Amino acid sequence: MVLDELKNELEKELKGINSEKELKALEKKYLGKKSKIAQILSCLKDMDIKQRIKMGKEINEFKKKTEALIKKKSLDIGGFDRKDGGGIDVTVPGKNFLKGHLHPITLVTREAEEIFSKLGFEIAQGPEIEDEKHNFDHLNIPQDHPARDMWDTFWLKKKGLLLRTHTSPVQIRYMEKNNPPLRIIAPGRCFRYEATDASHEINFYHLEGLMVDKNVSASNFKAIIRKFFEEFFKKQIKLRIRPSYFPFTEPSFEVDIQCMICKGKGCSACSQRGWIEMAGAGMVHPNVFKAVKLNPNDWQGFAFGMGLDRLTMMKYKIDDIRMFFKNDLRFLEQFS
Ligand code: DAH
Repeated sequence: MVLDELKNELEKELKGINSEKELKALEKKYLGKKSKIAQILSCLKDMDIKQRIKMGKEINEFKKKTEALIKKKSLDIGGFDRKDGGGIDVTVPGKNFLKGHLHPITLVTREAEEIFSKLGFEIAQGPEIEDEKHNFDHLNIPQDHPARDMWDTFWLKKKGLLLRTHTSPVQIRYMEKNNPPLRIIAPGRCFRYEATDASHEINFYHLEGLMVDKNVSASNFKAIIRKFFEEFFKKQIKLRIRPSYFPFTEPSFEVDIQCMICKGKGCSACSQRGWIEMAGAGMVHPNVFKAVKLNPNDWQGFAFGMGLDRLTMMKYKIDDIRMFFKNDLRFLEQFS
C-alpha cells in the first residue's frame, strides 16, 4: 500500500515522543495542512475514479489510525496539559486511605482506666517477662507448693524467668517501691499454657487492683467494684460475690456478673452458667505484706484481678475470646 511507508515512519517517530508539545508537532506533520496526506488528497481529483476510491479509503484509514495512535500516546504520557483533561478523569471520587483504630480490648482498657482514675486509683505497670519471685513466691505461692498448679506457666529457658501468668506481681513491684496508703490498678497482658476455647486463650488481659490503707474492708471492695461495673456498663448489673481461694488473699472471693450475652439463660461465653466470672479478689494476705516489708498489723487492703477480655466480651456481646487475636478485619473494623 502507498501509505505503508508513511505508517511505519509515524510509528517509529511516535516511540521517541515524551511530551504533549512534541506530540502536537507530530500531529501537524502527519495530519496538518502541509502534511503528505494533505498533498495526496489534493492530487485525488486528478486520479481516475477507481484509483480515487481506493486511495480515498486508504487515506481515511490512515487518518483514523493516526488519530487513535496519537490519542493513546497522549494518555500514556499523562496528557496533563490538554484542555480536555487528557487521561485524567477529574470527576472520579478520591481514594480513601486506610486509617487505623484501636483494638476493642484497648478501648475497654482505656475506659476502665478512666473510671478507676476518677475513683482515685493510680495506674501502675510491670513487665510481661517476670521472675518467679514476683509472679509466685512473694504472692505467697512458694516453690513446690501445689497452689502453683493454678497457673499453667510458660517458663523461659533462663532459670526463674517466665511469662507472667497474672498481673498480681505488679502489686509486689509497686509496694516494694511505694508506701501505703495506696490505690492502684495495673492493666496488662498475661500468658497461660493452656488449651483454648471460647472463653480461654493463651494470652489475655487482666486488670489488677490494689487498695491499702489503715482501715480498708471487703465492703469497700464491694462498693468500688459495683460502682465500676455500673459506670462501665452504664446500667444496673447483677453482681454476685462468692467464696474462693487465692494464696495471696485471705479471705478470697470470686466476683460474677450475670451474663449479658444470654441475660442469664446460659450460652457459650458463660459456659452455659448464666453467670460470668469477672474477677478474683480478696483481702491482702499478711504474708504478702511481709514479703514487701510492710507490717500486716499496721496495714490492710483488698486486691482484685479482673479479666479485661471478658469485660470487652460483655460490653460488645462477643461470644468467643479467640476473635480478639484472629486479626480478622471484618471483626476489627466494627470498632473503628
Ligand atoms: N491473679 C488472679 C488470677 O490470675 C486473680 C486475682 C485474684 C487477683 C485475687 C487478685 C486477687 O489481686 O486478690 O486469677
